[in-house]
Amino acid sequence: MKTELQLRPPKVELDVCPKQVPTLTKGAGIGLRSLHYQYILNHKPKVNWFEVISDNYFGDGGLPLYHLEKIRQDYLINLHGVGMSLGSSDPLNKDYLIRLKKLAARIEPDWVSEHLSWISVGGHYLNDLIPLLYTEEVMERVASRILQVQDFLGRQILLENPSPYLTFTDSTMTEWEFVERLVKKADCYLLLDINNVYVNAINNGFDPLTYLDAIPGSRVKEIHLAGYEEREKYLLDTHGYPVHPPVWELYQEALARFGAIPTLIEWDTDIPSFEVLMAEANKAEGFLEKVQ
Ligand SMILES: [Fe+2]
Repeated sequence: MKTELQLRPPKVELDVCPKQVPTLTKGAGIGLRSLHYQYILNHKPKVNWFEVISDNYFGDGGLPLYHLEKIRQDYLINLHGVGMSLGSSDPLNKDYLIRLKKLAARIEPDWVSEHLSWISVGGHYLNDLIPLLYTEEVMERVASRILQVQDFLGRQILLENPSPYLTFTDSTMTEWEFVERLVKKADCYLLLDINNVYVNAINNGFDPLTYLDAIPGSRVKEIHLAGYEEREKYLLDTHGYPVHPPVWELYQEALARFGAIPTLIEWDTDIPSFEVLMAEANKAEGFLEKVQ
């Protein structure tokens, strides 16, 4: 297996619709967490697809991978990473990409996704996804890194919009302008996290519909929904609550613009019973059916 990264210059910006590739991912899915492995294996709930945090399955064996492969026998599983550090000035982490490629070969996901953020500096890794400065220079660098990653993995990736708690005065464009141009330049797809758009809009003071209106619909392949925590002066993106009403409303606005995009329920803290997640997924499914 070839493991060296193939470098190539960024492509010129595309102004045409991307090639539409068939997708097996349909309807509403659920973020798969270890708490629910046994329930899923025992009960085989009617779920369209699951998504896991790729980084949790990078070992060559062990119980997490054992359960993942067992569940994969009955369900499609997509891979969602946190450690690629696409926005970092560090070199791309080859070991990380090799492990991700091996996992993808094993699990055969429909999609591999990552965040628009950075997490490492000088080879040291942080525990949080850090936002980027939105400038031409940063866009060139991130686009080039996404192209290298896609060449190495042999597939286009999905890029998830962040939920930053600050903006930089040195940014020369809005996040939605940056995202819209970046996904075209890097010829990747977009994982549109509606909760992130809403949290970002409230915390940083903009109209979330302005964000949605700027998004190139043909690039949106997946949607995330999650629950935030209300703090005194801001919203915290904890993924620890049911999806809040304004996020459901914004979700319907997104579906009206982009169609029935496969949608994942994410829940990462204070994880409830699987039935609660199913109820959230069924609610999303109801909205999806209305636009099909
Ligand atoms: Fe998300």
